[in-house]
Amino acid sequence: MPNNSKNLGPLEFFSSISASDSDLVGFDQHGNHTWLVNSPELAKRVLASEQSSFINPTHEYPHLRSILTDEGKYLLKLIDSRNDKSSTAFKKLQNKLFNHTSALILSIEEKLTTNKSIELFPFLKEWMMVLLADILFDVDASPDAKEFVKTWDIFEKNSLLAHETSASSLLPEHQQEWQSCNIFVSKIIQKYKYDRFENHKVYQRDGYEVFTTAITRTLLNGYNGMATALGWTLDLVRKDAKIQQKIFQETQLNKDSSNIELEQIADLTNLKLAIQTVKESLRLYPPAWLLNRTALLDIKLGEHRVFEGQGVCVCPYTLQRSPKYWQKADRFLPQRFAQSNHPEFAFIPFGGGSRRCPAAGTSLLMLAYMISALLKKFKITNSSSQPVAIWPLISLKPFPNITIDFEYRD
Ligand code: HEM
Repeated sequence: MPNNSKNLGPLEFFSSISASDSDLVGFDQHGNHTWLVNSPELAKRVLASEQSSFINPTHEYPHLRSILTDEGKYLLKLIDSRNDKSSTAFKKLQNKLFNHTSALILSIEEKLTTNKSIELFPFLKEWMMVLLADILFDVDASPDAKEFVKTWDIFEKNSLLAHETSASSLLPEHQQEWQSCNIFVSKIIQKYKYDRFENHKVYQRDGYEVFTTAITRTLLNGYNGMATALGWTLDLVRKDAKIQQKIFQETQLNKDSSNIELEQIADLTNLKLAIQTVKESLRLYPPAWLLNRTALLDIKLGEHRVFEGQGVCVCPYTLQRSPKYWQKADRFLPQRFAQSNHPEFAFIPFGGGSRRCPAAGTSLLMLAYMISALLKKFKITNSSSQPVAIWPLISLKPFPNITIDFEYRD
């Protein structure tokens, strides 16, 4: 973290320097001159239009194609939407989403028999991991999710991960925990025939570790981002009974259903407010709050010359809370997304350019569905008035946790 930040935490530090009028603000990070991008226009250049001027490691997820399910390929946009397979894949994804969300509601109901207050983490992460392992690989992660989530939480909390998620980026004493996570990853691999696996391009080129890293990173990107986003969204709506009621009413539009019809996910007109609510939550609490890039060559950005090797940070958190681009920037106002009158790169919870999250579109729908399904069944509040703090690690974590009181809607 920046070492000229005095006693400020990283979020306060970035927020304070983003108040500057300059489009690009320099600071010292562990002895290296680094830049904070401070305007949507420059964010667009760094992430998208001039991304070749920055180091952009390629993610290996497209190489997992041969072991991904059709619905997994749909989620990661590896199926052309004009392809006939696309609508069948979407239906499969909907079914899994529906079944797992019903299971989530059941396990909340079970917990309610002993306590109406539920701590969301790591409960939501484990559930999300099971959902995504099923969607992506058709594998049941329920026996392994607890251990997997716990291990990666420890790695993240102790800053053992750089921005790489590979065994070689861990200290030797943590290699054993990495191995325990790999037991689950090898289950995924064993499910597929070895001939398919060993003929695999990535496996042949780089060997086992790179292949397992690609599986782990895809899963991690998915469940961590999604569970964090769902947690913050629940925290925001628990304080806003009116929004809850309106989202509930939206779920009643389909008059025949005692459960939300799956087709409603496809029909954006029915989940309009739920989608706006998820977007507003991603604006205030972007799970990937900082996107780091390194200049590959000398480049002029705004008034400044950035030299090869210097770090450039794009911070969704500061751009998305800037009063320069957002009215009442710190307030939770989902309906602001009824019109999109913000600059394009002032809202970048999924990044931008070729590294933009491939699952962005479907993730939004899935989250809107989850929030609608929960609010259809429950009213949510929190009796404790203790505010939840933000803990900026690789993802934007709630601290110490988010606790929700669930009450049946009558
Ligand atoms: C609300 C949920 C999510 C958020 C906020 C989110 C955010 C992001 C962001 C910001 C990036 C770009 C990182 C960068 O530019 O450095 C990214 C990349 C990625 N995301 Fe997501 N994501 C979410 C859900 C998912 C899901 C459900 C999956 C699928 C399993 C997924 C898979 C990926 C992958 C594979 C990449 C890497 C793309 C590449 O580097 O080529 N994400 N995500």
